[in-house]
Amino acid sequence: MPKARVVVLPGDGIGPEIAREARAMLELLVPDIEIDEQLLGAAAIRATGEPLPAATLDACRAASAVLKAPIGDPEFDAADVRPEQGLLALRAALDTYANLRPAVLDDVDVLIVRELVGGLYFGSSGVREDGTVYDTCEYHPRQIERVVRRAFELARARRGKLTSVDKANVLETSRLWRRIVDEQSPRYPDVEVEHMLVDNAAMQLATDPQRFDVLVTENMFGDILSDLAAAVTGGLGLAPSASLSDGGAGIFEPVHGSAPDLAGSGTANPTAMLRSTALLLEHGLGLHEEARALTDAVAAALASAPTPDLGGTATTAELGAAVREQLSVDHAATVSYGG
Ligand code: NAD
Ligand code: IPM
Ligand code: MN
Repeated sequence: MPKARVVVLPGDGIGPEIAREARAMLELLVPDIEIDEQLLGAAAIRATGEPLPAATLDACRAASAVLKAPIGDPEFDAADVRPEQGLLALRAALDTYANLRPAVLDDVDVLIVRELVGGLYFGSSGVREDGTVYDTCEYHPRQIERVVRRAFELARARRGKLTSVDKANVLETSRLWRRIVDEQSPRYPDVEVEHMLVDNAAMQLATDPQRFDVLVTENMFGDILSDLAAAVTGGLGLAPSASLSDGGAGIFEPVHGSAPDLAGSGTANPTAMLRSTALLLEHGLGLHEEARALTDAVAAALASAPTPDLGGTATTAELGAAVREQLSVDHAATVSYGG
């Protein structure tokens, strides 16, 4: 098998603190891995003036997968060049249109499939002469069809239930979205489909999350609903994501942001980042045993060394060390990694 080449983007705020732990797991589980650290976000603006420098984009394009820590810094809140622009440009350049955001706890097992490279985030925006400011939500049918088909396929491999979330009572883009889901549905007779308005979906995610299997929705609704799904399944510190294209490098990153309030404290929960690393091993490198080993080790370590967001006292580094200890106790004897 060719050597795995992973670009690590340590990002901003708590990013470097949790990226360090994730990198250590990759090096432990895949001994011959090639890791290349690059700048994105506020760190990149400070060093080069650009949120997504050409060197970073080139490295990501050539990689097997990208492991990304959160970006964003209040220092740039009022700036013209913002860290978030780098992230959006990277998602667009790699065409990672299918953003998988799993939320699992006890009897809740929800997978949000968020369209990631269209909609309000990428429509035209600007300021008119009279001072009116606008952002537009646009979707081409092909952009909807490909993410909807991904969601059907994922639902088929799970419990066979797909909830398409929209605002079809108000928005033209949502009516197109609904029509495309209905057009695709006969191809997947084993998947039961329902349509749900986004305000109701938010309410039901909060009150009855077990009722959902796979949700598919446009970019902005998926952003908001995935923080909510994280909140009802243990908190943002636990929620990972995988952003997939058709065949190119995927981006694997936590759902949460750079948590400026925690940056430098050494107490951020690295779990979302480590679970994103497990998704990278699984979907990005096809290393199923290693992905399972990391997932299990994180679960065990969380029980013994929870961070403050979970009511514990462990630091980022202590939880990371507990995961590595679990990995060697549980698996070193039986699994030969990266062989
Ligand atoms: P946030 O997700 O950074 O933080 C929200 C709350 O959750 C904070 O109280 C924070 O302390 C807590 N939290 C987040 N991650 C945690 C962790 N791993 N462990 C413990 N607690 C954690 O959201 P925000 O404050 O709205 O945004 C801060 C910055 O992050 C902004 O610049 C935003 O643009 C950026 N952001 C980036 C990404 C990304 O890179 N994918 C995602 C979301 C937000
Ligand atoms: C996320 C983040 C990003 C988004 C921001 C930082 C652009 O909130 O990954 O959920 O809205 O997609
Ligand atoms: Mn978000």
